[in-house]
Amino acid sequence: MRKLRVGIIGLGRIGRMHARNIKSIIQADLAAISDISEEAVNSVAEELQINQKYYDYREMLNDPSIEAVVICSSTNTHAQIIKEAASAKKHIFCEKPIALTIEEVNDALNSINISGIKFFLGFNRRFDPTFSKMKEEIKSGKIGTPHLAIITSRDPAPPSLDYVKSSGGLFLDMTIHDFDMARFMLNDEPYEIYVSASSLVDPAIGKAGDVDTAAIVITMKSGARVIINNSRKAVYGYDQRVEIFGSEGMIMNQNMPKDFAFLSNPYETQLSNPVYFFIERYKEAYIHEIETFISCVMQDEIPPVGGEDGKISLLMGYAAQKSLTENRPVKFSEVI
Ligand SMILES: NC(=O)c1ccc[n+]([C@@H]2O[C@H](COP(=O)([O-])OP(=O)(O)OC[C@H]3O[C@@H](n4cnc5c(N)ncnc54)[C@H](O)[C@@H]3O)[C@@H](O)[C@H]2O)c1
Repeated sequence: MRKLRVGIIGLGRIGRMHARNIKSIIQADLAAISDISEEAVNSVAEELQINQKYYDYREMLNDPSIEAVVICSSTNTHAQIIKEAASAKKHIFCEKPIALTIEEVNDALNSINISGIKFFLGFNRRFDPTFSKMKEEIKSGKIGTPHLAIITSRDPAPPSLDYVKSSGGLFLDMTIHDFDMARFMLNDEPYEIYVSASSLVDPAIGKAGDVDTAAIVITMKSGARVIINNSRKAVYGYDQRVEIFGSEGMIMNQNMPKDFAFLSNPYETQLSNPVYFFIERYKEAYIHEIETFISCVMQDEIPPVGGEDGKISLLMGYAAQKSLTENRPVKFSEVI
């Protein structure tokens, strides 16, 4: 069987996980890895038995036998790496967000269009089996016309302050997944966004110019309302719930517990807390999204999630930030 030769750029939290997943996919050959950290490169090379290792991703891009790259480096490096990888004719899987400024996003998307390579953006939640099923049920009319989406998205603990400072802030780093989930589930586009938010979890996040607690109301073009609530710290674990309410019913998911033991006695009824964080919660989704990327490249198919989705969700983040700063509802058309 022909295997797609893949290289990974960035071997932090998410890069290591993708490396392990790619290693387990039959149609892929994890041929090369790269990071600016020697420690990261050497430990992943040893764990996964990879010989081709680079401390400068450009050397990897110069290897004509590498057909595709998976970009998992820090957000502020994505746009530049996309441009260079596209001009080296490598197919690209890139972690969200594409970049933090719309100019960089447009530049990166332009180089993808010119080179004609496949571009796949890592909105992993679209590949979660439960969310995929919910989307299919909504599409087939099981809940009628969607009127409301209630998205709860709370992390178990805030990231480091260094990460916060380079992440683009809550809306571009974290809520961006929820913006994409709203578009994905409702098959609809945003019309207006209103935000109320502050830093209740850690004042240092506020001092760094960010927020950690947010309530967001989005009016979609159809008139459906989306209510997103975010926190950087849910003490009971990773809280990921979506409910879509429509004219003929509703559909929702439950959190994924650490195990399915269910205790009931005269004093209490107990289910285990949710799994700790994204690597555990979206384990299957991450495998499925990378498999889909590999398959799109091998079968010459258009990726189901790409540059335009990244751009719209980034603009929704801009609208959210503007709404917070100006304390008013912001029309999506104001940020285009
Ligand atoms: N889809 C998701 O669920 C999800 C989850 C977490 C992070 N992310 C995204 O993935 C990206 C990485 O996040 P993370 O949490 O793994 O961060 P991280 O800080 O753990 O890892 C980033 C890695 O990139 C490396 N790096 C930085 N500049 C580089 C360069 N020029 N060349 C090669 N390597 C470089 C760093 O040394 C580090 O090892 C971010 O863009 C983040 O938004 C997505």
